[in-house]
Amino acid sequence: MAGFQPDPSSDPNLVNVFDYERVAAERLVAGPLAYFAGGALDERTLNDNRAAFGRRRIVPRIMTDVSAVDPSVTVFGRRWPFPLWVCPTALQRMAHPDGELATARAAAARGLTMTLSTSASTDLADVAAVGGPRWYQVYLLRDQGARRAMLERAVAHGYEALVLTADLQRLGRRERDIRASFLIPEGVHLPNVAAAAGVDPAEAASVPFVERLTWDDLEWVAGFGLPVIVKGVLHPDDAALAVEHGAAAVAVSNHGGRQLDGAIASLDALPAVVDAVGGRVPVLLDGGVRRGTDALIALALGATAVGIGRPVLWGLACDGEAGVGRVLDLLSAEIEQALALAGVANVGELSPAFVA
Ligand SMILES: Cc1cc2nc3c(=O)[nH]c(=O)nc-3n(C[C@H](O)[C@H](O)[C@H](O)COP(=O)(O)O)c2cc1C
Repeated sequence: MAGFQPDPSSDPNLVNVFDYERVAAERLVAGPLAYFAGGALDERTLNDNRAAFGRRRIVPRIMTDVSAVDPSVTVFGRRWPFPLWVCPTALQRMAHPDGELATARAAAARGLTMTLSTSASTDLADVAAVGGPRWYQVYLLRDQGARRAMLERAVAHGYEALVLTADLQRLGRRERDIRASFLIPEGVHLPNVAAAAGVDPAEAASVPFVERLTWDDLEWVAGFGLPVIVKGVLHPDDAALAVEHGAAAVAVSNHGGRQLDGAIASLDALPAVVDAVGGRVPVLLDGGVRRGTDALIALALGATAVGIGRPVLWGLACDGEAGVGRVLDLLSAEIEQALALAGVANVGELSPAFVA
């Protein structure tokens, strides 16, 4: 029988991504847990990202040959073994001492693309040395020279694309952080900001990002010669504008519900964005993806691949590189199984008709 065979030796307490979330919450101290888990204000968007998947049902096909399922997709000419993308999340050393290095190693071992955040707690050169497929997420620094220096370092270290995050012109108000008196722990720094700005790592958290981000900036980032993914697209008109201004892909995202509370769930925003893009560039989606069946729904509605943010942090907190690896393997196996049970042998066969 093809597909998902649970490993009998696997931990019965860590059967799915939600188990990793629960165990991670037991292990993390209050501040970092609040920072990782929380959303903005009433967390309506955070919760709705999940609920939006629950509002859809899959309409499978039968009597198709799914003896061999190929879950791979191609993005910017690179074959991804699964339509799964490791989203940028800041400060991963708060989850595990190996932080982003552990994530990079787990992703690289599986041929999955990892995105390193500008606010990462590991230097982009160290993540590059792991050697896996890698994208760099960009927050533009206010200082012109520092802004350029950061992108030049990413290009020089073999990052294959730049993810320009457009939904953080200022920080959302995250009340869990306030209640937990969250502060970045001592010893956890922002080395990429520090290197670009030429400041001591301990001071990098106060280096300002731009407050004015417009389409000109997208064209400027695209001038570094790498494909640029605009992340944080929810409105179909912005999807069209992004493509017109040179985006190589768009990522439908509300920053995991951490920015504008009440913003539309990523999955609810997807169909109109897919329509507006009209097949010109890949459309990624992140927010609330916790199951292979979630991925299937998003792919059927036109996403090229789905991203995960918090699940990686839960894997890290549970068991470093091995934990991230198991989370990625779980989701990969669930995606493969969902495709088979829906009667499709490859991702290209999916269409909106598979979703009710
Ligand atoms: C703790 C945390 C930190 C994040 N840091 C960044 C970041 O530095 N840059 C960025 O573009 N997105 C950041 N994000 C957003 C993720 O890239 C992604 O959009 C989101 O987590 C997806 O939702 P999910 O967590 O439900 O999978 C962060 C998300 C979380 C939860």
